[in-house]
Amino acid sequence: MKASGFLIVAAYLVGGCASETPSKLLDDYEEVDTTTVLDAPSSKPGTFSPEHRDAVLRGEYLVELLGCGSCHTDGALVGAPDMDRALAGSRTGIAFTNPLGEKYPGVIYPANITPDNKTGIGEWTDSRIANAIRAGIGRHGSRRLASMPWQGYARISDDDVAAIVGYLRSIDAVEHDVPDEVEPGERATHPFVYFGVYRSK
Ligand code: HEC
Repeated sequence: MKASGFLIVAAYLVGGCASETPSKLLDDYEEVDTTTVLDAPSSKPGTFSPEHRDAVLRGEYLVELLGCGSCHTDGALVGAPDMDRALAGSRTGIAFTNPLGEKYPGVIYPANITPDNKTGIGEWTDSRIANAIRAGIGRHGSRRLASMPWQGYARISDDDVAAIVGYLRSIDAVEHDVPDEVEPGERATHPFVYFGVYRSK
């Protein structure tokens, strides 16, 4: 084939509110080389029974393997994960409509999935968390956008999803709000990335 396909991951800066200029919004981030490894926080095995501990360790392994932190950790989408707030949500969003075709695309922000009651999933039941992971069922009972790649997780076994839930419950709760979803046509006040596929004409 003549034209070569490639994937563009672009970090867009959007005009923010008066107090936060776009360049300031990125003050929290630094450029790192692409070999940076995204670690999940370590669990606290001592607080669990042996069987539970094994499941939690397996959950930790799966969360690392499935790359949950590459979206759910602040800064990870732009290459500089803030590991002090691992899995506590991202203030860099993911555009779900094309920013090259419309001025204000829709943007969604990966949620805080630490056990914080207020800003995380502390009050969610196990099955609600499992449904978010495997079926993309969101806060209001409807199926969520594929920005959270639940289709890829749909076949995770019951044991494995229980291990993931056990691990997410074992990590420290971090209070950290992420911005609300931005509807297409609304102006986002926080930066976002866009995953698009392009081909030279
Ligand atoms: C490509 C980015 C991406 C990856 C990778 C990802 N997620 Fe998500 N996740 C999201 C986004 C975006 C949302 C927000 C969806 C929404 O607000 O409805 C979300 C929502 C969730 C929710 C619901 C929480 C809430 O408050 O709405 C859970 C639970 C969750 N993810 C767990 C996981 C786990 C566990 C993994 C790894 C197995 C994972 N996610 C991997 C992007 C991602």
